[in-house]
Amino acid sequence: MEEVVFRSPRKKGRIAVFLSGRGSNFMALREAVERGDISAEIALVLSNKADAPGLLRAREWGLETLFLDPKLFASREDYDRAVIGEVESRRIDLVCLAGYMRVLTPALCDALKYRIVNIHPALLPSFPGLHVQQRAIDWGVRFSGCTVHFVAAEVDMGPIILQAVVPVLQDDTEETLAARILVEEHKIYPQAGGLYFDGRIEVRGRRVFILEHGA
Ligand code: GAR
Repeated sequence: MEEVVFRSPRKKGRIAVFLSGRGSNFMALREAVERGDISAEIALVLSNKADAPGLLRAREWGLETLFLDPKLFASREDYDRAVIGEVESRRIDLVCLAGYMRVLTPALCDALKYRIVNIHPALLPSFPGLHVQQRAIDWGVRFSGCTVHFVAAEVDMGPIILQAVVPVLQDDTEETLAARILVEEHKIYPQAGGLYFDGRIEVRGRRVFILEHGA
């Protein structure tokens, strides 16, 4: 078996959520934190969109929020350098991308290796990128789903932590399939967060192993 390249920490962690839109996955993560299913606190909600509903909701809830305006930075590298600074200065353990619609630079992926996870509404490595529910319908696949994975420099291609499967029905539209997938997203993203801070995620090569409790 390949050697262990990462083992998640068992601790009370500090999470940053990055989002660009409505933030339903952020809300699912927050509920899990409130219930005690994730041993962590949400220490930052960051967005590249000033009016992202998820950001406004986080502010209402009294969480620390940050809008980083891409227009104020000369390059994507400069933007991500600022992001790294904000994350490290708050001693964030794990960044959860939750509908964060920016491609991360390799510098950011490398600086926070195994400390960034993403939820994607397809069964990776099928259908990376955008408009993936419509593309799954158009391709004619019988099943789709969602994937929680570590973020690596190659978009949507990092080691897979959890997946959930849903059927694709003959009369599905992009909206109905997206809604069916979203129900599963709201289950497996919090579950992955829980596993992370229970110290139960181990990466060997590019395979993720879920350890037994207390392993
Ligand atoms: C979710 O379906 C998430 O999987 C997707 O954006 C939506 C965000 O919804 N992410 C991606 O497509 C990333 N490639 P939300 O704002 O309600 O969490």
